[in-house]
Amino acid sequence: MQSGRMLRSRNRETGDRLAGRAHCHFHARQLILAPSPQQVSAEIGDFFVIRQCNLRPHARRLPRRTEIQHFWRGCFNLIAPTPFTTRTEPVNSNSSTGSPSNVQDLDALVQVLHQQRATMLDDLVQWLKIPSISSDSSKLAEVQAGCQWVTDKLRNAGLDVNVIQTQRHPIVIAHTPPVPGAPVVLVYGHYDVQPVEPLEDWISGPFEPTERDGNLYARGATDDKGQVLTHVQSVCQWLASGQTLPLQIKFIIEGEEEVGSESLEQMLPDLAEQLACDCVVISDSSQYADGQPAITYGLRGIATFELAVSGPNQDLHSGSFGGAVMNPAIALCKMLAGLVDDQGVIQIPGYYDDVQPLSDQQRQQWNDLPNDDASFAAVIGVDELFGETGYSTDERRWARPTFDINGITSGHQGEGVKTIIPAVASAKLSFRLVPNQCPKALSAALRQRLGELAPKGVRWELEDDHGAPGMLADIETPFARAASSAIEAAFDTAPVLIREGGSIPIVARFQQVLDCDCLLLGWGLSDDNTHSPNEKFRIADYYRGIEASARLWHQIAAEHQQG
Ligand code: BES
Ligand code: MN
Ligand code: MN
Repeated sequence: MQSGRMLRSRNRETGDRLAGRAHCHFHARQLILAPSPQQVSAEIGDFFVIRQCNLRPHARRLPRRTEIQHFWRGCFNLIAPTPFTTRTEPVNSNSSTGSPSNVQDLDALVQVLHQQRATMLDDLVQWLKIPSISSDSSKLAEVQAGCQWVTDKLRNAGLDVNVIQTQRHPIVIAHTPPVPGAPVVLVYGHYDVQPVEPLEDWISGPFEPTERDGNLYARGATDDKGQVLTHVQSVCQWLASGQTLPLQIKFIIEGEEEVGSESLEQMLPDLAEQLACDCVVISDSSQYADGQPAITYGLRGIATFELAVSGPNQDLHSGSFGGAVMNPAIALCKMLAGLVDDQGVIQIPGYYDDVQPLSDQQRQQWNDLPNDDASFAAVIGVDELFGETGYSTDERRWARPTFDINGITSGHQGEGVKTIIPAVASAKLSFRLVPNQCPKALSAALRQRLGELAPKGVRWELEDDHGAPGMLADIETPFARAASSAIEAAFDTAPVLIREGGSIPIVARFQQVLDCDCLLLGWGLSDDNTHSPNEKFRIADYYRGIEASARLWHQIAAEHQQG
């Protein structure tokens, strides 16, 4: 058996040396380690076959003469800086198709993108008018309409489009023609949006997209319709210009991201072949600051729960019964307060066990970013920031796990006084997790801890909602290099490297199941009011995002040719 050449790589955060892969190729859902890039598509029997993840062991599928190595790439971030090899068909030197576009073509296309601005903005306005709130079961038809809009858009541009029905909301999958010898990119995004309450705080209606001060205001403007549409537009305009794309682009745009992406997660193994790609590209996050675009190489995971506490069989007069019975609202408050101390340290045994410490080098790099706590606090309207002692704001947001109460309900909410002991109290909880932490393990530890904290005289129930692990992306890749130069050209500023605190539940799954690289390119801004009233997207960033996207396709192909 030939031996694959193992490259050595360092885990960027811990500095540990790790074995990485040499030349990888995707075939029948197996990751194939080849002795050289030239041999990637030769006879499969000569290669090591490795699988990176201990969650879905593929040992049964593999030929006998293979060696399996388990390593968890999501945690170790360990892909070696590889020569550019792809999972497409072998390079055919006689092939007339698939030559990367030349710079003249790209300049012409960028001109077209400028000319088409009004039309492309109107597209976004039309999509934003559709109230595709995925969590609202009375809005099924509207969510369907949100799906239909982007399906039509892609189909009219000539892409091959499939709508996949799920138990909840449909998923759109589309692709441009294959380009032999060139990489395959998968664009992921979501057409569903968050609820809009409190309605009275909106200056213009959440589904009446309105332009003010260079921004487009509407629910979904930045999260994520406006952002994913930048890639849809770049591809549609590229095809409309009559030029061939220099690589194959696939799209997957789903309708359940804001409720945890459960359907897609379930179906992903079955869709893996259809979605096979070298890199997934996602615009569903933000720039570091106004004027400072970024490439995001990490996201936090999430675990959400609902805690219900109950006491007497109905609300009681607080005069007649007060002092003689445990108040469920007080019990709930005590339990919740016991989960975090005054230093912001979460009080669940074992909660920090799997958290990777930040290296000094990493902390220094983040410290060098143009961060400013005072203006950060001012924008959100607080006198002072608060977080875990010993960490900077960016460290707290990007690399430390959290506990939050997202909602809390009990007793009298109406006008005036109503002196009762409420029968029930409940709270919606979320924990942000960092790479390596497991949502399932948290659920067990949380239950145990709540058992210790629950006062006598009440019953409590904890319901697990959804969970997703955090992720890290490798940035030493040709894709990241291509993104950097595409962004610099479109935004007139080179991007900085950041992590973000939000979660995109399916991304870690893409890394595991599709074994692909990952590019998170956020075009939003931190004051976009994501999930809040008056969500907006800066129109100039919509146009820049479209240009960066077009340049990205060109640049990935160019990197591939050079590699
Ligand atoms: N686009 C966000 C994720 C995000 C937010 C990334 C901020 C980077 C910075 C996404 O739509 C989102 O809101 N995700 C939810 C996931 C949850 C509902 C499972 C989140 O992070 O709360
Ligand atoms: Mn989003
Ligand atoms: Mn969101």
